[in-house]
Amino acid sequence: MVKNTPIDSTIVSRKIAESGIKEVGKASIREIKRLIDQIENESGEKFIRMEMGIPGLPPNHFGVEAQIEALQNGVAAIYPDIQGIPIVKTEMARFVKNFLNIEVNPDGCIPTVGSMQGSFASYLLLARIYEKRNTTLFIDPGFPVHKMQHRVLDLKFETFDVYNFRGEALREKLESYFSKGHIHSVIYSNPNNPSWICFTEKELQIIGELATKYDIVVMEDLAYFAMDFRKDYSHPAQAPFQPSVANYTDNYILFISSSKAFSYAGERIGMLVISDVLYNRKFENLLKYYVSDAFGYSMVFGTIYPLSSGTSHSTQYALYGILKAANEGKFNFVEEVKIYGEKAKEMKRLFTENGFNIVYDKDENEPIADGFYFTFSYPGMTGAELLNELVYYGISAISLAITGSDRIEGIRACTSLVNKSQFGDLEFRLKTFHQNHS
Ligand SMILES: Cc1ncc(COP(=O)(O)O)c(C=O)c1O
Repeated sequence: MVKNTPIDSTIVSRKIAESGIKEVGKASIREIKRLIDQIENESGEKFIRMEMGIPGLPPNHFGVEAQIEALQNGVAAIYPDIQGIPIVKTEMARFVKNFLNIEVNPDGCIPTVGSMQGSFASYLLLARIYEKRNTTLFIDPGFPVHKMQHRVLDLKFETFDVYNFRGEALREKLESYFSKGHIHSVIYSNPNNPSWICFTEKELQIIGELATKYDIVVMEDLAYFAMDFRKDYSHPAQAPFQPSVANYTDNYILFISSSKAFSYAGERIGMLVISDVLYNRKFENLLKYYVSDAFGYSMVFGTIYPLSSGTSHSTQYALYGILKAANEGKFNFVEEVKIYGEKAKEMKRLFTENGFNIVYDKDENEPIADGFYFTFSYPGMTGAELLNELVYYGISAISLAITGSDRIEGIRACTSLVNKSQFGDLEFRLKTFHQNHS
């Protein structure tokens, strides 16, 4: 089977057997992480680690300074406002205006415990706005934890892989779900985890128009805000702006994570932004579960309150510090994370020069951006088979099969933890793999 591999194959095989993992190619992200940690320890060889989507940069210093100051001022002893402290809400509304060019009242700008909590709270609430609609639609591929959130809440969802439905084809596909009358909301990430596709303006317009037509709430997950580096979205109040469905419908919720764009994953803070129309809208069915029929009120006092009673007080000050610096043009947050794109460009070159293909490779007619993730395959192998083998070559990643993708040949690579100094190793390992399979 595997011969002449860069990592000692007896060690790899033994560690796989000891791990209890039946097939590396089908293991979860955390199982792969543990296995690779063990192989690295035993073999003394460093892997090209592309399995986990964690930021690989130092935390934002505007955030750290504001947070330390807030702690020294004693905020740790005091419960924060559930809806968010006033100064952070105002700064969030400014940020949204400056970088998306959309107007939202600070009331609808709510800090959450990571964007993860924003989505959890939204799923909970959206499943209850209509008596007769019970299903979320995922435009996949997508972030596996969002489906996990549905499963633990016992909520229904349907999904389709957007690969074959780009451009105008998206309209008919979405209508085929929306017209049945059981969908209350739709979710996607843009730029997309795992494929790094970005919807074009035309596609966002289609999603927005249909959301209005069928009265469906769009959840737009902007976890990788402004990280489509083909365009420069980094200047406040200056075009171009981060594209958004918010330009095409009033029925939207945005999730803006601080984890990647601001390298603030550890403090667990994100932004939940609800359009003014949706925030103030009343849904009779909500009265079965909440004291109010108003969407925004039920989100804050009926959903975020019982989940966590708001978001860590000092971390809200950190977010305030980061947003203020970005809004005032003192902190170019896009510049700080561009390195992910530079690494992706070089890594994609190394893969494609050695027989691999990029799976999700286009946004309509344009090649996709270089960013946090990319997807690849090798001719004649499924993603699972490929991953099983790449471990022997010191390369780890995850299969697209766990992301709702139909491209079973595909693998997701994350660029964040790979150091540029490892590119020589990566090239050698890919070459060896290609030679052994030609
Ligand atoms: C698409 C997507 N949404 C949401 C999240 C979670 O973000 P947060 O760390 O703010 O909870 C991630 C993190 O990897 C992500 O990739």
